[in-house]
Amino acid sequence: MFRVRLWAGCIGILLASQACATEQPRLVQQQGRFALFVDGAPYTVMAAQLHNSSAWPEILPSTWPSVEALHANTLEAPVYWEQFEPQPGHFDTTNIDALIDQSRQHGVRLILLWFGSWKNGQMHYVPTWIKNDPVHYPRALDEHGEPVEDLSPYADANLQADKTAFAALMHHLKQKDGQQHTVILVQVENEPGMIGTIRDHGAAANALFNDKLPEQLAASLHKPTGTWSDVFSADADEMFNAYGVARYIDQVAAAGKAEYSLPMYVNAWLRYKGKHLPGYDYPSGGATWNVLDLWKASASHIDFVGTDLYSTDYNEFTKVVDQYARSDNPAWISETGYEAGNAPYFFHVLAKGGIGFSIFGVDNDEDTPKRQAATAAHARNFQLVGAMQRQVAQAAFDGQLFAAVEQPGQPQKTLDLGRWQARVSFGAPMWGDAPAELPGNPSADGHLLIIRQSATEFLVAGINARVEFERHDDDHRHGQLLRVEQGSFVNGQWQVKRLWNGDETDYGLNFGTQPTMLRVTVGSY
Ligand code: DGJ
Repeated sequence: MFRVRLWAGCIGILLASQACATEQPRLVQQQGRFALFVDGAPYTVMAAQLHNSSAWPEILPSTWPSVEALHANTLEAPVYWEQFEPQPGHFDTTNIDALIDQSRQHGVRLILLWFGSWKNGQMHYVPTWIKNDPVHYPRALDEHGEPVEDLSPYADANLQADKTAFAALMHHLKQKDGQQHTVILVQVENEPGMIGTIRDHGAAANALFNDKLPEQLAASLHKPTGTWSDVFSADADEMFNAYGVARYIDQVAAAGKAEYSLPMYVNAWLRYKGKHLPGYDYPSGGATWNVLDLWKASASHIDFVGTDLYSTDYNEFTKVVDQYARSDNPAWISETGYEAGNAPYFFHVLAKGGIGFSIFGVDNDEDTPKRQAATAAHARNFQLVGAMQRQVAQAAFDGQLFAAVEQPGQPQKTLDLGRWQARVSFGAPMWGDAPAELPGNPSADGHLLIIRQSATEFLVAGINARVEFERHDDDHRHGQLLRVEQGSFVNGQWQVKRLWNGDETDYGLNFGTQPTMLRVTVGSY
């Protein structure tokens, strides 16, 4: 399917054959909550990320069917430093131009991933002229003095080279896209940090490690001044490395923003699933939760930290989302696996005020039954939310979005909506009484979201879930459903398709696998 979508407000301008000018994307914070503003309003990112080697002009056309099958509204794709700067100071914009042009043709927004000094804790994407010149562009050293596959963050030549290239990228982006804003976000580096050592042990790094940590950092972290070992004891090496990596990336981001100030984030290879060894289990110095305060204090040009969250386990997934959804950081799933099992957690992210969810490795894989199930699970979510993504983003920003995600063994959840509660059940039939012992869904894949539009009006959308609205007040009045509309948003306006009543409301409001949206008005007597 080939879709062409025009951004709101652009049509008249396009008819006049002018480039379409829209408001620049920005991250907005309000009372500890966040929204990514795109075209001047909160936007829910529902992204499809390409495989690492797919962002090439001749490969891109084969990727679009997968992006469209998912109903993604955003493409995430890498920009490779080795391709962008094949010779020092010579910049090749072929790939990035193809990404922007094709994204526009297919009506999706674009998030660019700068594969610069770091990619998965290593330096595989730096240009060959840097890889071949370790004297000028030094590597980090392990504790035995052996080089690892990481540039040292303490070598000015490395920093200047990355800054120069990234600034050139942002400069070009402003020229090409500074009016239309197809590109809405930029990820600086990819899963930064070091694999193979807990910290750089080069001479410059050692001298700084044995010195006191910067006073401003100590103050921000409410720590006394002292050497890294004095202050952080056993965690000193990892904290020191995180500071080095964060400061380096902050300066790369600053150089890019000086050219074109799009919102920027870093993605974290997580410290989770019982893995705890920095430099071995995960890249040391990346923005893992245990060093997140330090990262926040050291990288002010990075707007937020995303999570590359490859889990289908309820407890693991929600734990990580909750670790990163803070008053200084929005929940953002920068990557998750192409699996059906993690699809329900999109709603948990939204309920945490998150800005979006991105599925990794969408293109050109074998079409197995497992893959088809994953496509179906994510596509119906993206379709459901896509139909009201602006309303969803606004509600998440305003703290008016609530969600219940099925937890294995817990087939019922209650959402507190003020004077009303929503009792959500999983495993109930589509109509008729539910068994006393609710079984839950066979794949524990139920999920449901509610947007509170007013004290008595709610938008509800769900998959494999039943919801019953119950009044909970002490005025002895009874609650009732006044009106249940099934409908959809057309150009931002709610349009009713039919009213639900009778069997469709007498046993709760039941959602199956077909994307369905209801507007519920409750009352009392
Ligand atoms: C996380 C990385 O950020 C991606 O680029 C890719 O390598 C995936 N891991 C593969 O699972």
